Amino acid sequence: PVLVVDFGAQYAQLIARRVREAGVYSEIVPHTITAEEIAAKQPAGIVLSGGPSSVYEPGSPELDPGILQLGVPTLGICYGFQVMAQQLGGEVAKTGRREYGSTQVHVAHPDGSVAGSFLSGQPEEQTAWMSHGDSVVQAPEGFEVLATTDDTPVAAFGSDERKLYGVQWHPEVRHSQHGQAVIERFLHKEAGIPADWNSGNVIADQVAKIRAQVGSGRVLCALSGGVDSAVAAALVHEAVGDQLVCVFVDHGLLRAGEREQVERDYVAATGVRLVTVDAVDRFLDALAGVSDPETKRKIIGREFIRVFEQAQAELIAEFAAEGDPIRFLVQGTLYPDVVESGGGSGTANIKSHHNVGGLPEDLQFELVEPLRTLFKDEVRAIGRELGLPEVIVGRQPFPGPGLGIRIVGEVTRERLDLLREADAIVRAELTAAGLDGEIWQCPVVLLADVRSVGVMGDGRTYGHPIVLRPVSSEDAMTADWIRLPYDLLARISNRITNEVAGVNRVVLDVTSKPPGTIEWE
Ligand code: XMP
Repeated sequence: PVLVVDFGAQYAQLIARRVREAGVYSEIVPHTITAEEIAAKQPAGIVLSGGPSSVYEPGSPELDPGILQLGVPTLGICYGFQVMAQQLGGEVAKTGRREYGSTQVHVAHPDGSVAGSFLSGQPEEQTAWMSHGDSVVQAPEGFEVLATTDDTPVAAFGSDERKLYGVQWHPEVRHSQHGQAVIERFLHKEAGIPADWNSGNVIADQVAKIRAQVGSGRVLCALSGGVDSAVAAALVHEAVGDQLVCVFVDHGLLRAGEREQVERDYVAATGVRLVTVDAVDRFLDALAGVSDPETKRKIIGREFIRVFEQAQAELIAEFAAEGDPIRFLVQGTLYPDVVESGGGSGTANIKSHHNVGGLPEDLQFELVEPLRTLFKDEVRAIGRELGLPEVIVGRQPFPGPGLGIRIVGEVTRERLDLLREADAIVRAELTAAGLDGEIWQCPVVLLADVRSVGVMGDGRTYGHPIVLRPVSSEDAMTADWIRLPYDLLARISNRITNEVAGVNRVVLDVTSKPPGTIEWE
């Protein structure tokens, strides 16, 4: 693999993704890793990430100096570049000039006339994204200065002899014009790593791993209707066929068509054994009379666990009677969850992640987590390769508590039906407008506790508003509202007020996150 050494900023994951986009498998490791530990992993290359600190600050993250002596081709980025400069005998100084954001970079030897010029072939002038206070003012001995900026005498350096390279800017962010080219050139040419990481290989690899873990054991998987559990189950099915049993809980808070997509399209595409539990009445009974958002969330979570445990107990009993107990449980855990929980490689604990559905902690199962090393876009690619329906693979994030937290007020059957109709119109219109790729998600919210006066035909109406919440986002941590075209908004508004009885107003949420959250509850 290529190891991405994490100095504690949020950039390591982005770098790891860009390396994989270049067709090379990458893993994130903490900066506290030793040279021996790195050597044991036999990496084909190392990338040192950016970080939040100055190399001069007391307590700033350090790097085992032995790592740069291993002879492994290494690329230092931003803070990683400065650590490299310092350890190799260059000079890093507080110049007092900060560069932040888009910065003009001058490539020193674009013709490749100088050894170590991994920037050769790149435009002499380009903009790149910077974020630094300190600067490298002198390259280490034996290293060529390969780029400068107006404020930084050494913005990139390299040594072909030592296979060590560095850039002050962030090639992993899209605002850096030729960033991906820097990463690819380092990987493929300087480090000589072929581009052979792709969905097909990942599937073959995971299938072999699942078979080795599970043997002839029985496996259970809870499908949520979302991308992750669908792809995880499909991979396990590919590996062990009917040893897998899937459970899908219909809690009545799904959107129009979602149950059918799982029961019909997903099963047709994968051939998995599926048990659907119809728990609609149970959930609606439990939610009756409740309008407080947190109480609703708790009730939905609690009921989900109870329903799943009951289904599981029945299946366990059924298979145990056949002398074939269920021993494994599939989880759709993704790589960002692993990294952010401080799991696996032991990076900073940013937040403890909880998986969709909130499965009980005392499960007597061994977990099967085939997506543990993958990013979301890779999960989608694998889903497509496995032939899963686009309605599932391309699905936007949808919260576990479903429409239950998109009705502001009490959740009732009638209100759910009404919201489902409005939501289906919005989804159809956004898709028809070709905007699915741009939109992270678009919650459609029913303000069930609000009524306003309207007029229709000759009569007065007194109906509810529907809120549209179209947002763009990279990771749901922050988001911005999308400026949808007025014509499209007009069409959606017309259709909803005409077609959905009980709704006489459509409003647009123009709040970013923060301060608003994406969901209303
Ligand atoms: P907020 O509303 O916090 O949402 O800005 C961030 C992202 O998380 C989704 N979301 C959930 N997903 N279970 C989930 O699986 C939940 O309880 C839940 N609540 C919010 C939300 O749709 C958005 O993508």
